[in-house]
Amino acid sequence: MKIGAVGDLHGKKYIELLDNKLEYAGLDLLLLAGDITENNSVEEFDLVLDKLRGMTDAKLVAVFGNEEYEETHAEYEKRGEITFLNDDATTLEIRGVKIKIVGTTGSLDRPTWWQRTNLPDIWKKYQQRIEKVSQLLTRDDSDFLILLMHYAPTYKTLSGEKPERYPEMASEKYEPILMEKRPDLVFHAHAHKGTKSVMLRKEQRRLDEIEKELNPIPIYNVSLPLNKSITIVELQEGKHAQG
Ligand SMILES: [Fe+2]
Ligand SMILES: [Fe+2]
Repeated sequence: MKIGAVGDLHGKKYIELLDNKLEYAGLDLLLLAGDITENNSVEEFDLVLDKLRGMTDAKLVAVFGNEEYEETHAEYEKRGEITFLNDDATTLEIRGVKIKIVGTTGSLDRPTWWQRTNLPDIWKKYQQRIEKVSQLLTRDDSDFLILLMHYAPTYKTLSGEKPERYPEMASEKYEPILMEKRPDLVFHAHAHKGTKSVMLRKEQRRLDEIEKELNPIPIYNVSLPLNKSITIVELQEGKHAQG
């Protein structure tokens, strides 16, 4: 199973970075981690969609970023080509493998100045979103469980950004949820200067906990300006490896 993921396309801004045809060969699924367009431009969204459709016929599943404004979400969804997950989940069966994808824009530990000024309910909304994602992150009968987000669920993939900005780029309140619910893969974007991937591990406090250590959880920051290409992950019999 070959999965591609990319976010922070920002309309036509980085469109030439999507050009490597080899990356799309045999792709089963392409996940879009938000900021597909720039400044809520529907025109540039269509440009990106045309570009991707020219590269692959893989199933497209996406979340909204901060560049896709809420009032226009329905317009993007109308395109029908992309399944948008807005605090929601879907289960796909691809070549006999069941993949459950939970999708959300994510939360910020401190809403941005603009959000704090214009959206008085945003603190509550971000908290409720964390609870909703926790509820959705159940494996059910799927072979793989994936979390797709725009904002990061940890500060660990933000390394490279200014530390004082971390709370306005991510919410690390998702970390304990990831440790508990144990998705196989987590993808996010938004941190254009962050770190490409980290393995999230439970902090070992006592020696006897080491024996109980479970597999770490891979978190990929699939921001296009950071990776300069889409990110490819191969899923194999319960294990994954970056291709
Ligand atoms: Fe972005
Ligand atoms: Fe963003």
